[in-house]
Amino acid sequence: MRLILLGPPGAGKGTQAKKLIDRFGIPQLSTGDMLRAAVSAQTEVGLKAKEIMSAGKLVSDEIVIQIVADRIEQPDCENGFILDGFPRTLAQADATETMLHGKGLRLDHVIEMRVEDDELVKRVAGRFSCAHCGTSYNDDGQRPKVEGVCDKCGRSDFVRRPDDNPETMRTRLKSYYKETAPLVGFYYCKGILKFVDGMKPIDEVAKDIATVVSEAE
Ligand code: AP5
Ligand code: ZN
Repeated sequence: MRLILLGPPGAGKGTQAKKLIDRFGIPQLSTGDMLRAAVSAQTEVGLKAKEIMSAGKLVSDEIVIQIVADRIEQPDCENGFILDGFPRTLAQADATETMLHGKGLRLDHVIEMRVEDDELVKRVAGRFSCAHCGTSYNDDGQRPKVEGVCDKCGRSDFVRRPDDNPETMRTRLKSYYKETAPLVGFYYCKGILKFVDGMKPIDEVAKDIATVVSEAE
């Protein structure tokens, strides 16, 4: 199964992708995670992307399309994948069609996650994660069970993303509505767009996604 999780920053794409990995046994391809790894490793791509990401703007189509094209060649993508944060522009959506068409494949589902702006800003402002294992937490509800200790690895260092601040979040939202929201129409016209109410609690959103995916099969 090849699916896209489409939605604004903080909609819950990463959270839901992680649940789908277990459910369907296919990998999550997050361009945000791949770019952050490149920034940490100070690769050529990372050096180009760093400032752009800190400003909340979009990294060039050329760079992200190449990253995804390379990633879907990996053997673990043979049975499908979950695209999280890609495509984000019409050029990226066209490139996705071309990549898959060249392999005789197609997208199965594009799931639009709808969440109100105030909620997005609140979620992003509260997000933090374990510096060691990456487990995600939020000031608003999903805190570690033992304060200051990661539930998963038991260590005590937490980090916040540099772009999770109110000013950068405003730019990220503008980028979404200007560059990415047009993909809703693009995929609607292809007949593969479904939407879920991303305002619901995490487990309910996960159930709704599972229903949408199974109904379409
Ligand atoms: P990226 O990493 O993709 O960030 P984003 O799209 O801004 O999305 P987020 O990771 O902020 O949110 P999410 O929807 O995954 O939400 P999450 O599940 O974490 O991109 C970062 C940057 O990289 C971009 O700005 C750009 O510069 C660059 N980039 C990446 N891809 C690119 C591309 N294709 N083209 C060009 N540039 C690109 O949830 C957020 C928080 O809310 C968490 O704390 C979570 O626990 C909580 N939460 C989740 N769901 C719920 C719920 N239902 N109820 C309550 N809380 C919830
Ligand atoms: Zn941890």
